[in-house]
Amino acid sequence: MAKTPSYTCTACGATHTKWSGRCDACGAWNTITEAETLSRTPGKSGLGTARGRTLELSDLGRDEVPPPRTASGIDELDRVLGGGLVEASAILVGGDPGIGKSTLLLQAAASFARTGLDTIYVSGEEASAQVRMRARRLGLADAPVRLAADTNLRDILTTLDTERPKLAIIDSIQTMWLDSVEAAPGSVSQVRAAAHELTAFAKRRGISVIMVGHVTKDGQIAGPRVVEHMVDTVLYFEGERGHQFRILRAVKNRFGPSDEIGVFEMTGAGLSEVANPSALFLGARETQSPGSVVFAGIEGTRPVLVELQALVAPSPHSQARRTVVGWDGSRLAMILAVLEARCAIPFAGLDVYLNVAGGLKISEPAADLAVAAALLSAREDVTLPPETVVFGEISLSGGLRPATQTENRLKEAQKLGFTAAIAPTGGKAAAQKGITLQRAADLTTFVGDFFGAG
Ligand code: TYD
Ligand code: MG
Repeated sequence: MAKTPSYTCTACGATHTKWSGRCDACGAWNTITEAETLSRTPGKSGLGTARGRTLELSDLGRDEVPPPRTASGIDELDRVLGGGLVEASAILVGGDPGIGKSTLLLQAAASFARTGLDTIYVSGEEASAQVRMRARRLGLADAPVRLAADTNLRDILTTLDTERPKLAIIDSIQTMWLDSVEAAPGSVSQVRAAAHELTAFAKRRGISVIMVGHVTKDGQIAGPRVVEHMVDTVLYFEGERGHQFRILRAVKNRFGPSDEIGVFEMTGAGLSEVANPSALFLGARETQSPGSVVFAGIEGTRPVLVELQALVAPSPHSQARRTVVGWDGSRLAMILAVLEARCAIPFAGLDVYLNVAGGLKISEPAADLAVAAALLSAREDVTLPPETVVFGEISLSGGLRPATQTENRLKEAQKLGFTAAIAPTGGKAAAQKGITLQRAADLTTFVGDFFGAG
């Protein structure tokens, strides 16, 4: 076995042959560190010693049953998991330090345990007494969860092997270490090896494993992205500082939809579920100010209404600012370019700020039209008709494309007291009692109809 020096990005795990300040793979700065990789010289023939077994594709499925799932009873969590916890699956829960991962998983552990699922919570960060104290604060002291405080992964695997729980929670993967890996805990090779061992163990023993991974800002500690490809399900726990609510988002799920979100609120007694996120996101909405538009979006399987806020002001800088919170910056640039090129509405010399109120991050293309509406509303200082929601995708030609699930969006809008909606023409016909649906054929018509310009 020869040791070859190489460099690894601690944010995404990409390997590089030489050091550089920025990782080409993920674009992160100062995350590349030297790593040692072991290169094994294969035997003479380059083949292994044991022959694996193969199956006919058609053989599968005959006696295949859907994987058994256990629901925790925390609906927001179960939905993101795709209906509950799948047996023998490996799940990664990533998020910024202090966002509430340990709180969420302790509550989940208690809920799973109360449904009868044998659960062990392994903390590598806190002593069992601290975990117990937190559990007491959360009102979970009587839940039948077993606790362990350890960071040596071999010992943990031995514990799991003898105790045979159905679910093991590992908090966090960055604190775990294997004596067979010559690197500090938290390094890319340790985190990778630990996650690999845990995942393999989960499959072999039929134990589900949930691993916590801290998102790291500096290059000393490997981030959760390093292990994303190994696990079945990747969830991220997000939230803005200063906001009480938290979003659990599935970014990868072998056993369910991958764009689902669960919404929670951090309270003094832990995380509580938010069953109606639209009401929460619209809660603090100022009525009808220019630049404010309500977008009827879909997050996973659920419609969510959010307020988009835009501010357009003459720029004192030689290069006008474009600032976006909660949406994609390049998508904003595209909308501005289309408005300029197709509708002759210039934004040069104007600073543009766009904010998704409440801290939700949206990625749906259907937000385009709502963004355009917010920008125009701010620029022209006019408001849309009251109690109106907007959705639809804008193409580079200035055309509008209908959004998916129009009916669900309208239904949600009606439920929250909206009376009108603006959407592109075409697509499946949809109507909702109590909602006046106004259709726009293209961006120019939209601008002309609602902003008296274009
Ligand atoms: P924690 O779960 O420890 O975060 P993580 O494991 O992601 O690092 O959450 C820590 C934060 O949550 C901390 O700032 C305090 C807050 N918190 C509450 O507001 N209420 C609670 O009941 C608990 C347990 C924590
Ligand atoms: Mg924690």
